[in-house]
Amino acid sequence: MTDRDTSPTSALDPQTPEEWAALRQLGHRMVDEMVEHLRTVRERPVWQSMPDPVRQALTDQPVPRQGVGEEAAYTAFREQILPYPLGNTHPRFWGWVNGTGTPLAMLAEMLTAGMNTNVGGFDQSATLVERQVIAWLAELLGFPKDAGGLLLSGGSMANVVALAAARNARAGFDIRAEGIHGGPPLAVYASNQVHNSVTKAVELLGLGRRALRLTPVGEDWTVDVEALRAQIRADRAAGIHPVCVVANAGTVNTGALDDLDALADLCTEDGLWLHVDGAFGALAALSPALLQSRPALHGLARADSVAFDLHKWMYLPYEAGCTLVRRPDALGDSFRAPASYLTPIEGGVLKTPMVFAEQGLQLSRGFRALKVWLSWKAHGIDRYIRAIERNVEQAASLGRRIEREPELELLAPVPLNIVCFRYRPEGTAEGDALNGLNQRLLVALQESGVAVPSSTVLHDRFAIRVAITNHRTALEDLDLLVEEVLRLGRGSLGP
Ligand SMILES: Cc1ncc(COP(=O)(O)O)c(C=O)c1O
Repeated sequence: MTDRDTSPTSALDPQTPEEWAALRQLGHRMVDEMVEHLRTVRERPVWQSMPDPVRQALTDQPVPRQGVGEEAAYTAFREQILPYPLGNTHPRFWGWVNGTGTPLAMLAEMLTAGMNTNVGGFDQSATLVERQVIAWLAELLGFPKDAGGLLLSGGSMANVVALAAARNARAGFDIRAEGIHGGPPLAVYASNQVHNSVTKAVELLGLGRRALRLTPVGEDWTVDVEALRAQIRADRAAGIHPVCVVANAGTVNTGALDDLDALADLCTEDGLWLHVDGAFGALAALSPALLQSRPALHGLARADSVAFDLHKWMYLPYEAGCTLVRRPDALGDSFRAPASYLTPIEGGVLKTPMVFAEQGLQLSRGFRALKVWLSWKAHGIDRYIRAIERNVEQAASLGRRIEREPELELLAPVPLNIVCFRYRPEGTAEGDALNGLNQRLLVALQESGVAVPSSTVLHDRFAIRVAITNHRTALEDLDLLVEEVLRLGRGSLGP
């Protein structure tokens, strides 16, 4: 494969038996090396900054008109790209909310790309597999077995698709035909802890950011249901038409779980759509033990829609989010747009409607369901549920450890898998200096390569935030985190 054919008609597939053999051999090497990369992930720094020459090699390069060949391109990947990832495959990555991926699902992604099938619909196996995965998820989360839904790129898209369905179903007029000016102003309700993807969705849906009514939260960071009810009443009295409540099953800041039953009652009384942003927290409801011990989650099965991510707390590789809707055709009502070229005909490839294209924005869609289907079939979902339970136990254990350490301060309750804390030796005053110290401490921790938590601000306090959606984390990793924070705080970074 070293003799490159540079003619304009050069083929994209190998042509000769030798070229096929060389590509196969390179492929075997790639698999071997990537499996080894995952096997040894713990031995590397969680994250490392890119040296300048690497940055330069990855930016401002001329368009590669002529190829360098497969081997050389792969070598560039190994040297310039692979060593400098975000780090979320590492056992001590707990930043934002990121999943880890698994070796098996990595291989599933190769199979997906090999099939390279378009899953907008059509009479094909992939469409049935996605339908099956959706039905499994519906059953596991207590939704009706025939619930509608589809896999998307992530929680942000899952929220916007669900909120489009909510807006259209509850606007009270034909908003698809008339647009938002065809009726009264609409409003959506959520706690002030709601994820910014919901803000973006409300803006994108044409409602305007002010239509997202942000309700205060209590000490536990969950929505104040009575304040929300009062806001709905006040809006109605002012001629505004409330359409939807967005509940948090796991706020991004602290993992707080809104009382879903109370919100479901409120929505039923008032005729609103209940959407649950359960990007990671909804998956806790897969565990009978977690569901039992967290009554706030009980109402999940009563929601009109729920959005969640399989690339977070299902440990699957990016990208995979999901929207489930209780009423089978709730998404179809919002996204079906007839077109002659997509109308089913008797027999052949298009004998059924484009089931997934009709439930969302995308016409052409990848086969996201395969990595889910293959992983669950191979391992059984109980293994994944156990990993979720373990992450919750680890977060609780870290919270207790922090409470025992006099120099550390827990900044929020730990209802699920997120722990917010700071370094605060006795006698240190509240304020900018303390916030600055913790910020420097977090940066030092990340740059050391030992661990990557992220941050947030709670009641003006800068918090080191540990979100555990990581099946590779062991308790010792969290011990190391605590020791490093103490060491850095007591050392040169200290007050
Ligand atoms: C509560 C919540 N909602 C929505 C999202 C957005 O999900 P994604 O990043 O998959 O788009 C996140 C991401 O962390 C989240 O935590």
